[in-house]
Amino acid sequence: MTRTLLPLILRRTDPERAHRATIAALRVWQAGGAPLAPDLPRCEVELAGLCFPNPVGLAAGMDKDGEAIEALFALGFGAVEVGTLTPRAQPGNPRPRLFRLSEDRGVINRMGFNNGGIDAAVKRAAGAKRRGVLGLNVGANKDSDDRVRDYAIGVGKAAAVADYITINVSSPNTPGLRDLQRQPALGELLAASDAARRIGERSVPLFLKIAPDLDRNGVAAAIAAAVGHGIDALIVANTTISRSDGLRSSLAGEQGGLSGAPLRSLARAKLAEAIELADGAMPVISAGGIDSADEALRRIDMGARLVQLYSALVFAGPGLVADIVRGVARSMR
Ligand code: FNR
Repeated sequence: MTRTLLPLILRRTDPERAHRATIAALRVWQAGGAPLAPDLPRCEVELAGLCFPNPVGLAAGMDKDGEAIEALFALGFGAVEVGTLTPRAQPGNPRPRLFRLSEDRGVINRMGFNNGGIDAAVKRAAGAKRRGVLGLNVGANKDSDDRVRDYAIGVGKAAAVADYITINVSSPNTPGLRDLQRQPALGELLAASDAARRIGERSVPLFLKIAPDLDRNGVAAAIAAAVGHGIDALIVANTTISRSDGLRSSLAGEQGGLSGAPLRSLARAKLAEAIELADGAMPVISAGGIDSADEALRRIDMGARLVQLYSALVFAGPGLVADIVRGVARSMR
């Protein structure tokens, strides 16, 4: 009942208020002791030396500040990626900045890295029980005068608690940020991040997240730089600034990054391209329009080692996670 009713109610509420309400509900559930599996989960996928209990992860942007980590694991995710986090807290862009394209089962956002800063999130993450892999996703402050330094700070702080760290250079909502996907900026950024990820003996795995709007040469250059700097995996992809033909929603013209079902075919195409170009030198994680076990399995069949999702939760509700995880597990067995 709540499973069908909740998404229905939330879909009729202003999207950003619905998102806050969802995080609040997850926090209450978590405080009451969300049913975390007591036994150690199995190692279904091993990647970068990490043990993923299943290949289905939460993409960044849902729990920007790491407020609901335990509850999100309890939904069934094998990995939870918190963030994007910046060195200093920042408010993000003016509202409205989050739009539900209901007719298209898509989302447009121009949140602009609203977050409470990395220190607060690191503290929360340190106290959270995990039944899977915890990622922290880092970015640069909008008003930073040294963005490379921001990433190095983020990686250095995240390394204290994260199982892996994602370098997000692909958000369309911080002006100029995506220029960091290209050389020579990318090489400089990856070198600084690589230096910052080491804590004593431990070197925390680094993932690079790219935009689906990079052309083939751009993807090839990003992969070459990532391989050159020992990056452990590539996440393909973030939201797109393109607008597919056939969008029906009146909100399709809003500025920002598009995700969900309308991103699906581009996400598949960019996954195929990245896998071909990486040629086994680097594992690829697929995100964009995944909303069913079939779609998750399709990406895995295409060569993705893991998948991530976010937008589908907006339309299908939190029960979707367990459905996908179970469906994928059945087929992989
Ligand atoms: C995002 N995404 C995102 N990605 C990221 O690296 N840092 C972030 O802060 C955010 N924020 C964010 C907010 C909102 C509202 C949405 C919908 C998305 C992108 C997200 O992680 C993912 O890459 C894309 O949304 C594609 O996957 P889905 O949503 O189609 O499953």
